[in-house]
Amino acid sequence: MSRKYRVGILGATGMVGQRFIQLLADHPQFEVTAVAASDRSQGKAYGEACTWRLSGEMPSAVRSLPVQPPAPPLDCDLVFSSLPGEIARETEGSFAAAGYPVISNSSAFRMDEDVPLLIPEVNHQHLGLLERQRSKYSRGGFIVTNPNCSTIMLALALAPLHASFGVEATVATTLQALSGAGYPGVASLDILDNVLPYIGGEEEKIESETTKIFGRFAEGRIDLAPMAVSAQCHRVNVMDGHMAAVRVKFARAVTLDEVRDSLTSFRSLPQELGLYSAPATPIVVRDEPDRPQPKLDRDAGNGMTITVGRLNPDTVLDYRFVVLSHNTIRGAAGAAILNAELLIALRHLPDSL
Ligand SMILES: NC(=O)c1ccc[n+]([C@@H]2O[C@H](COP(=O)([O-])OP(=O)(O)OC[C@H]3O[C@@H](n4cnc5c(N)ncnc54)[C@H](OP(=O)(O)O)[C@@H]3O)[C@@H](O)[C@H]2O)c1
Repeated sequence: MSRKYRVGILGATGMVGQRFIQLLADHPQFEVTAVAASDRSQGKAYGEACTWRLSGEMPSAVRSLPVQPPAPPLDCDLVFSSLPGEIARETEGSFAAAGYPVISNSSAFRMDEDVPLLIPEVNHQHLGLLERQRSKYSRGGFIVTNPNCSTIMLALALAPLHASFGVEATVATTLQALSGAGYPGVASLDILDNVLPYIGGEEEKIESETTKIFGRFAEGRIDLAPMAVSAQCHRVNVMDGHMAAVRVKFARAVTLDEVRDSLTSFRSLPQELGLYSAPATPIVVRDEPDRPQPKLDRDAGNGMTITVGRLNPDTVLDYRFVVLSHNTIRGAAGAAILNAELLIALRHLPDSL
């Protein structure tokens, strides 16, 4: 049997970095062999540099790993990146140039024409873009990104609906958890007893990324989907779990039962391939009038299943629903790990380790 892929985590001490460490602790295909963070952490052992903020203990295997600068070379076969967007472009680019596959969470490369913005259940055909990166990164490195944490749940919910009925327009109003802002995130005095109707850059990301994800891949490029997407984003006083109230307009008349069946029966390539992090059911539809709720539903499918509720005809567009997902799992670290599992299954990562 092949040995595990050795992975480095860039931004390993942050909110998403800690999720990577947690989700990879018992992973059958990956082992964490390198961690990198800012100069505040560099030179210390991970166990000393990182204040563990997730439930459960920090996995013992990473405690003694030295925190290194996020620059190649690192002792690993590929890197997962959860670096802040401002520094990710140069850093991730330097790893790809040095020959490392880079599986990134950050926004830096998401909209680049030759970079897949991947949700394995939705647009695995976009991995064809990697061919275009071969000439840019001559040493075999490449970059694959996952979408913004709110975009992922919106696109995953729309995927079966778009495939079956054609989504012409969608309006999403998000209620986003505090962990989505990283640590320390929003000051407590700004969010207690409050809702913040602004998350910098978020609305633009949801609107642009969604049209790329549903874009058609042909002849080495993606034609953006002709779908009108409108987003308004709010930060709310919830620890984990982003929600969005969504309205959708379809290209043809559809019944409520058809919409519901389309969501509940949705399965895709990760489920067919049996990828380790793929939930058996990517979308759960709940019929109780007061679901989904972050506290009750964010851990569905180990945080990889999104939950849809409040599905009803809409008086302005065609249908409306509320969707919820775990923002640091399906919306970040879990999404990137699923991307890497798909890259292995489709032979985009060398399998002769
Ligand atoms: N949180 C989410 O739900 C979520 C979801 C999707 C995508 N993302 C994206 O994932 C990335 C990380 O988010 P996060 O929430 O984990 O942020 P975070 O908690 O603030 O963590 C940032 C990480 O980057 C490191 N870092 C900061 N400045 C650095 C520098 N100049 N050089 C090297 N390392 C540096 C930090 O190291 P130190 O500990 O040493 O400072 C820490 O490990 C962002 O691009 C974010 O947009 C986040």
